Amino acid sequence: MSEELQNHLNNTVTTEQVTIDEAVNYEKKRFSRRYRMRYLDRLEKAFAKEVFEMVGVGSHIVDIPCGNGRFFGVFSKARKLTMVDYSENMLAAAKEKCGTPENVEFIRSDISSMPLSDSCAELCFCMRLFHHMQNDQVRLQSLKELVRISKKYVALSFYNRNCLRFYLRKILGKKIRGNYVTFAHIIDLAGQARLRVVQRIPKLNLFEQQCFVILEKA
Ligand SMILES: C[S@@+](CC[C@H](N)C(=O)[O-])C[C@H]1O[C@@H](n2cnc3c(N)ncnc32)[C@H](O)[C@@H]1O
Repeated sequence: MSEELQNHLNNTVTTEQVTIDEAVNYEKKRFSRRYRMRYLDRLEKAFAKEVFEMVGVGSHIVDIPCGNGRFFGVFSKARKLTMVDYSENMLAAAKEKCGTPENVEFIRSDISSMPLSDSCAELCFCMRLFHHMQNDQVRLQSLKELVRISKKYVALSFYNRNCLRFYLRKILGKKIRGNYVTFAHIIDLAGQARLRVVQRIPKLNLFEQQCFVILEKA
């Protein structure tokens, strides 16, 4: 493994390699027990549906990181769906969930360097990875790789620092999980990767940190 790749992984993958049981149960455990997580799951799937409708069923979609296939139900009808994740066990769990339809391929790869050709997909969808990235070098390198692969759109989520939840946890001295950045910071990095903002959801983060953004190649 190259030093650059190892560096990227050290600054991206924050959790230890998940076991196959954890991978299979990721969606059930994380998104079904608490009201808040069920709400976020609904929001994230609604966002995925919106971007899917924007590009249409005739599109090639790259879901990176696909985890255990939480968005398969939304993207499964795409002309082609490429599901990418660094974790072998997450990919195995995704395969178990999705089966092996002809329009779907699974690839084990780091986001910084994917074995996919330039401009091969209409949409790169990246949910719940940016808040694991520990510095701007990693964020920018990842954005550039998403730009390289995408013909047009990149849709991603990040943790927005400008929300009540972040400051409340800070004031109360509670543990802050994940790396938060401002929306202005994401716009700046996106600009450096030659992406412009098409839409931000929500327009203003009040309590929740989860923020979605649709970016287009400039
Ligand atoms: C919080 S999960 C999100 C999965 C999926 N997007 C979802 O929302 O259900 C984060 C995923 O990112 C993967 N991951 C972490 N670092 C990565 C990297 N550098 N390249 C590709 N995948 C990575 C992990 O294996 C894990 O499956």
